[in-house]
Amino acid sequence: MITYQQCEALDRADPLAALRDLFHQPEGDRIYLDANSVGAMPKAAPERLLQVMRQGWSHDRRRSWSTGEWLSAPTRHGDRIAPLIGAAAGEVLVCDSTSVNLFKLLAAALKLRHGRPVILSEAGNFPTDLYVAQGLRDFLGHDCELHLVPEDDDPADHLKEDTAILSMSLVDYRTSRRHDMARLTAAAHQAGALALWDLSHAAGVIPVDLNAAGADFAVGCTYKYLCGGPGAPAFLYVAQRHQRAVQPVLSGWMGHAAQFDFATEYTPAPDIRRQLCGTPPVLANAVLETALDIWSTVAPQAVYDKHASLSRLMVDLLGQRCPDVNLASPHGHARRGGHISISHAGGAALVEALAQHGVICSHRAPDSIRFGLGPLTLRHVDIWDAVGRLKDVLADGTWSDIDPGLGV
Ligand SMILES: Cc1ncc(COP(=O)(O)O)c(C=O)c1O
Repeated sequence: MITYQQCEALDRADPLAALRDLFHQPEGDRIYLDANSVGAMPKAAPERLLQVMRQGWSHDRRRSWSTGEWLSAPTRHGDRIAPLIGAAAGEVLVCDSTSVNLFKLLAAALKLRHGRPVILSEAGNFPTDLYVAQGLRDFLGHDCELHLVPEDDDPADHLKEDTAILSMSLVDYRTSRRHDMARLTAAAHQAGALALWDLSHAAGVIPVDLNAAGADFAVGCTYKYLCGGPGAPAFLYVAQRHQRAVQPVLSGWMGHAAQFDFATEYTPAPDIRRQLCGTPPVLANAVLETALDIWSTVAPQAVYDKHASLSRLMVDLLGQRCPDVNLASPHGHARRGGHISISHAGGAALVEALAQHGVICSHRAPDSIRFGLGPLTLRHVDIWDAVGRLKDVLADGTWSDIDPGLGV
C-alpha cells in the first residue's frame, strides 16, 4: 500500500523539486494535470514579454532586428531543445506550427523519394498529422497517396516499395502508447523510405534519441511539456545528412541564403535555416525563451526519471484507490509517453466535475480522460491528491448531472 508519507518522502528526495518555484504556482489547491495541453508558465515570462515590448518594440523598433537577437531565435531556441530529443546543434529549428512544419517535411520527403507516392501513417494519428497529409495528397494528385495503418497493426508490415515516408506520432495523443522509434525507423529505411516523428507528447518527458534512431525528420509542439506558452512556435528537426538535399516547398524570404540582398531568385540557406519561411514570432519566442532558460539548467535524464516516478505512482495509486477505473494507457513506463489515460464513459462530464474539484485534466473522444504529468512542476503529493479527488468524484456520482459542453 502506498501512503501519503511515502509520496512526501519521494518529494523530499526529488532533485528537481526547486524548479517548481520558477513557475507560476496554481491558485488554492488546484492541481494542473494538463501539461500535455498547455504546460506551466515560467514566472519570468510576463516580465520578459514586457521588456521586449517596452525596449525592443516601443523604444528600439527597427533596430531590434539586429540588436535584439530576434532573427536568431529560431536556431538559438532549436539548439536548446536539441539535447532533449537526441539531436545535434544545427538540426533543430523553432518556427511555425507543428502542422505547418509537418507540411514542409512531408513535402520534402516526397521530393527526396521521388517516384514513391505513399505517405504511410496510422489511422489513430493526431488529426492534424492526417489532415496535413490529406491536403498534400489532394494538392499533388496522382503523385501522392495516403495509406493508413489500422489501429493495432504493426506499421512495419505496411511499408512497401512505393512508401516515401512513414509519418508517425511517437506517443498516441489519447492512450499515451509509445512506439519503438528505433525499430520502426530501421524498418522504414530497410524498405527504402524515410521516417518522420511527431514528438509533441514526448519532448520534455520521456527519453527521445533521434540521432541514435537514425530518424530523418521530426516535429513537435513547444507549448505542452516544454512550457513555451499558448501558441508558442513549434520545432522541427532535419537530420544533418538531409539538410542540403531538401529543397523547401515553403520557400519564404527568411529561409533565403541572404535574405537582406533582396534577390529576385530564391537561393536556400545552406543549413537548417532554409526551413524558415516568414518573420519569426518575436513575442512568442521571448516567452518560450524563459522556459528554455530553465530547461538549459536541468539534466534531461533527471527529468525522465522524475516523470517515470510520477507516472508509475499515478498508475499504482489508480489501482489502489480507484480499482474500478480502466487504465487506457499501456502498463509499463517504457511503453508510455507523457500522460496517463483512463477510459470512462463519463468523458467530458467527468473532466468538468474534476475541474470543479480542482483537478485540471482533459478529455478526448470517445472516452479518454488524460492526465498530463509535467515533471518540472508536479510533486508526488499532487498525484496522491488528484487520485483522491478522482475517487471522491466517482463515488459521489454527481458528475453525471454536469453538462459536458461546459468548460472542457
Ligand atoms: C500530436 C500532436 N501533433 C500536433 C498538434 C498540433 O500542433 P499545432 O497546433 O502546433 O499545429 C497536437 C496538438 O495537440 C498534437 O497533440
